[in-house]
Amino acid sequence: MSPLILSAAGAALLLDTGGQGLPRVRHFGAGLGPVAGPDLLPALAAPAVPLLPAQGDSWYGRPGLSGSRTGEHWPVRWTLDRLDAEATPGAGGTVTIAASDPRAGLELVSELAMDAGGLVTMRHTVTNTAATPYRLEGLTCALPVPERAAELLDFTGRWALEKVPQRRAFGHGVWSRENRRGRTGHDATGLLVAGTEAFGCRSGEVWAVHAGWSGDHVHYAERVHEGVALLAAGELLEPGEIILAQGESYRTPQVYFTWSGAGLDDASARLHAHLRAGRALPVRPVTLNNWEATYFDHGLDRLLELADKAAAAGIERFVLDDGWFRHRRHDRAGLGDWYVDEQVWPDGLHPLADHVRKLGMQFGLWFEPEMVNPDSDLIREHPDWILGRAERMPPPQRHQQTLDLARPEAYDYLLERLDTLVAEYALDYIKWDHNRDIAEPVHDGVPGVHAQTLATYRLLDELRRRHPGLEIESCSSGGARIDYGILARTDRVWTSDSNDALDRQAIQRWTGLLVPPERMGSHVGAPHDHVTGRSLPLAFRAGTALFGHMGVEWDLTSASESDLEELATWIALHKRLRPVLHAGNVVRADHPDPSALLHGVVLPERGVFGFVQLTSRVGSGAAPLRLPGLDPAALYEVRVAGPVPDGAAMPEWAATPVRLPGSALGELGLPAPALRPTSVLVIEVVKVAGCDMRSHADF
Ligand code: GLA
Repeated sequence: MSPLILSAAGAALLLDTGGQGLPRVRHFGAGLGPVAGPDLLPALAAPAVPLLPAQGDSWYGRPGLSGSRTGEHWPVRWTLDRLDAEATPGAGGTVTIAASDPRAGLELVSELAMDAGGLVTMRHTVTNTAATPYRLEGLTCALPVPERAAELLDFTGRWALEKVPQRRAFGHGVWSRENRRGRTGHDATGLLVAGTEAFGCRSGEVWAVHAGWSGDHVHYAERVHEGVALLAAGELLEPGEIILAQGESYRTPQVYFTWSGAGLDDASARLHAHLRAGRALPVRPVTLNNWEATYFDHGLDRLLELADKAAAAGIERFVLDDGWFRHRRHDRAGLGDWYVDEQVWPDGLHPLADHVRKLGMQFGLWFEPEMVNPDSDLIREHPDWILGRAERMPPPQRHQQTLDLARPEAYDYLLERLDTLVAEYALDYIKWDHNRDIAEPVHDGVPGVHAQTLATYRLLDELRRRHPGLEIESCSSGGARIDYGILARTDRVWTSDSNDALDRQAIQRWTGLLVPPERMGSHVGAPHDHVTGRSLPLAFRAGTALFGHMGVEWDLTSASESDLEELATWIALHKRLRPVLHAGNVVRADHPDPSALLHGVVLPERGVFGFVQLTSRVGSGAAPLRLPGLDPAALYEVRVAGPVPDGAAMPEWAATPVRLPGSALGELGLPAPALRPTSVLVIEVVKVAGCDMRSHADF
């Protein structure tokens, strides 16, 4: 029996489909070239992890499926019923596998695909075929990683400091990142990565998994004592959450697997390519959000002035944040009452929206659809719409509770409100927030996060269907809802509630593994950061925001003329570089100096890099700037883009553009400037047309 191979963009997945049971995965990693033939499989040393690991297939680690049936439990042993595959060597393909176990009363359908960029997606659907209810406890997707995957990298975090890396040795046992917050979570790992020893952004071999799901979830890495290791992920189910009656099915979220032979960057690039191959985004307008400028103070004159200043600085979209709806003078009341407050806005939002549009900007509005304050007309009228037991309310967070969206009346109410407001104000944009962890969710007598998450997805999908041009931002107290489930239905994420550029450098670097720059909201905050209290120069704040979907969250009515001018310069630079920043390959150098970062975005013809001095350097000489990701055989013109940082000692090349081959830029590097801490130097490289160094033997 020949193996079934999916291959694309240098990656391959090899399935052993011989035998009665589920196919076994024998390889996920580097492309294998033209391997085929019946003799191959017995000769392969690679592990053989069943597509759904189970004891019946000699897997003694954590099972892929767990569940029970009172009194008549049969451990599952699958029989393969059908396998449909469409695979084109080098172009990926799809595999659908149907299996069943009549004794256990279960059927399984597994869908596996490799896209043109070598990214693997997997999901399983299990159906109860027996007369008695099947209590599903877990169904995850897994792929093996080879023995040489010696280290694990995952991420944790909190409000205003998301995606903090943590690393450890990949020993025997399970390293499990579990989330029971009812939303993706500030501490969500995003990617769980296994890699060869000391892997970096540009070196080492890495494998990574991500669950595209915005409710409770689990990502785990396991190595059993036979030495076989795997990465797995899926939804995390509470006991009793999924009870399948005869004929009912449960489908896992889409789980993403990525591999790279050259560090995290390539693994991340496959994910970015997958997102980018989906819905095409219009040019990302530079955005002003009024939250940190005015908070709940919605005086019209102040907002009009803010809009004037924003437009003058080159901003293209104005977003009115929290505080515009009934009773919302502070965060203790009003959530749920999605009607424009008649006292604060006697003429509706029209005077502001019209003014914003006259200035040539788009208009956007903040919502927090799934949330309610008990102090709201909605909850006074419908106390039973709260997700939880009405007799004993869940503990509050930020004075709020969750609306039970799986309840049709609550869902219909929200859809009507959102739909009406989007239509009335022709909203270009919604910032869709979710500001609490969900505690003690009960829907219809069972744990309710699963149903809640699906209802949110339905609501988003329906709203988009009705308003195809509407853009939506996923926010959740900053970056607590960033995953490929929500990103399939939204256009960008609010990366963090921290606009502190120093913290943002790290938050954006690691959030950026999953989220490409054009979908990562990054705003220029106030001179004194509202969260950390740190004062940072405008050039550093702007040079940090430049590399994402740039915006401003600062009271521009209080900014000096010179600050406004400087801000306008940075916004103009962002607009000029946007075609590269929002479409290129993200590269993160493994810069040897821990006090600095070097990162960039590269297209075949152009690249933009940021050299970021975070803290003071220990050594007196700065390490060279080896620019990654360039074509070694091309000649590039290199120049400083944007302002030279204050107090910088600049090397000679910075004075006038120089021409250097990509090989020299990548291998030898540019002499680095000596920058003060909290400085960014933006460097631009442009390929010199018609000059291919491949003909110059010396390079
Ligand atoms: C959350 C968001 C902020 C802002 C406030 C408004 O904290 O992350 O950006 O919208 O809510 O209440």
